[in-house]
Amino acid sequence: MPRGYFITFEGLDGSGKTTQIRRLAATLEAEGHKVVTMRNPGGTALGDRIRSVLLDSKSEDTVGQIAPAAEMALMFADRAQSIAEIILPALAAGNIILCDRYTDSSEAYQGGGRQLGSQRVLAMHAAACDNLQPDLTILLLPSLESSLKRARRRNQRQVAQQGTDENRFERESDDFYRRIYEKYKEIASREPHRVVTIDRNGGIEEIEKDIHDIVAKRISAAKPTLKASIVEA
Ligand code: TMP
Repeated sequence: MPRGYFITFEGLDGSGKTTQIRRLAATLEAEGHKVVTMRNPGGTALGDRIRSVLLDSKSEDTVGQIAPAAEMALMFADRAQSIAEIILPALAAGNIILCDRYTDSSEAYQGGGRQLGSQRVLAMHAAACDNLQPDLTILLLPSLESSLKRARRRNQRQVAQQGTDENRFERESDDFYRRIYEKYKEIASREPHRVVTIDRNGGIEEIEKDIHDIVAKRISAAKPTLKASIVEA
């Protein structure tokens, strides 16, 4: 069965993941690859509903305060659905998947930020995701201070322009974000082959080039299945 390549992007809110995913997708497509972009939470009908419950700061008016373990379980319900609906079929068809956040986010935010601990999150990953791991994870980890500033600016802009509000997480304290930051560093040092950290505060183009170099190298090492699917396309 042809198998694609599964890449996830991780980092704090405001770390620039979304821009980099868009740029990398365009470059890979121009090179002839089949690319699927997606995000967690969201992307499926169920996932979009889970996303709005989890991220809208007004959702607590209707559902009450969301317990940390419930938050974790909802993140994994979303993820299990996206694996079934998007990830496994796209991999089977030989696509490169670029996924904005995956289980490392749960480990960093719920395990670290909400202090549930890594073990609970990883046990849930085994149960809900059958331990499906990305082939490569790009961790964008510029300084904590610059990420926080960007995230808060972006949210203010979103509320002002669209009236929408996805900042239930962005209301959290700097300590919450510091724990996430530390947990990401812990994951990267635990899994140095899978997780590549980009920690410089460079410009968008420089980081884009770093990412493309890493991805190109890994993809060519992962042949022949990918090469075969590109030739057939
Ligand atoms: P984003 O899609 O704009 O990056 O926002 C998703 C938010 O949800 C972000 O604050 C991180 C948070 N999140 C978790 O807390 N746990 C998870 O497992 C995932 C995927 C996201």
